[in-house]
Formats: sequence, structure tokens, C-alpha cells
Amino acid sequence: MSEHAIELTVNGHCHATRVEARTSLGEFLRDGLGYTGTHLACEHGVCGACTVMIDGRAMRSCLMLAVQADGAEVTTVEGLAEADGTLHPVQQALKDNFGLQCGFCTPGVAITMACVTRDNAGVEAPRMEDALTTAMSGHICRCTGYQGIRRAIRQLAGAST
Ligand code: FES
Ligand code: FES
Repeated sequence: MSEHAIELTVNGHCHATRVEARTSLGEFLRDGLGYTGTHLACEHGVCGACTVMIDGRAMRSCLMLAVQADGAEVTTVEGLAEADGTLHPVQQALKDNFGLQCGFCTPGVAITMACVTRDNAGVEAPRMEDALTTAMSGHICRCTGYQGIRRAIRQLAGAST
């Protein structure tokens, strides 16, 4: 089995290690580094559960090899909240609106929402709501029926109802 030396930053912490060439980034984050907030389900790019931020962009960690993340800055759901425990606004909105039940899809959903709200900061509420709703098409939630997530989206967008 071929191994490669990689160095990457995860949630502000530098990790220099060796990893098998075939290991996916999602598997490496969970089993290699202990960031188990990143969930793996379909493992072929469909469900979105494994979404993490790589150099600021939301990406499927099951579709990327760990060696490809060499030199990257990765943010997992564990890195969204402030150091003092204050939740990221997307986490707060999901919590406030019962946007999770089992929570399995939530880490990926929260990472995508964080990217979308950052990229659309300052736009009017309907555009933000559209952007967030469209982005959710890349996430399969198996148990909320999306209603709680939709309410969280409306809260984040600043919609009046
Ligand atoms: S586990 Fe990566 S998209 Fe489903
Ligand atoms: S909250 Fe259970 S899969 Fe989405």
C-alpha cells in the first residue's frame, strides 16, 4: 500500500502525517484525525453528508482523496462555532427552527449554508433564500422533510415570516 506525506490545516490546526493513497478525505478526517462530525453515507457524491469547506469552498469529502488536500485549509462542522462555543449563525438557525432530527445530514447542510451565506452577504432576503434553497438541492435529509431546514433558511435570509 503506498503512503504519502501530507500537511493540511483543519479548523485552524496543522496536521502533518502520512496517508494511504486510496484514503478519501472524509475517511481521513474521521478515522485519521478524529473529526467525526463529518459524516459518510453514500460515498459517491450524492447525499452531501460529507461536505466540508476546502479553501473556503463547500466540497464532498467522499469524492476527494486525502492526498489531494495536501496544503489545503479544511473546515469541518467542528470548526464552525466560535472558540467560546458561540454557534455559527447557521447552526443557531437550524437549532432555533428544529432543522434537524437525527442530525446526520446536519454537518454537511451547515457547511453549505455557511458558504452560501458568506458568498451572498448583503443581498436582499429573497435572493438569499433562493440561494440557500437551491444549495439544499445538493443535500439529502432523510428525516426532516426539509421543513425545519426551510424555516432555518428563512431566518438566515431575514425573511419576515
Ligand atoms: S457521503 Fe459524500 S456525498 Fe454522500
Ligand atoms: S436530520 Fe436526519 S437526515 Fe437530516
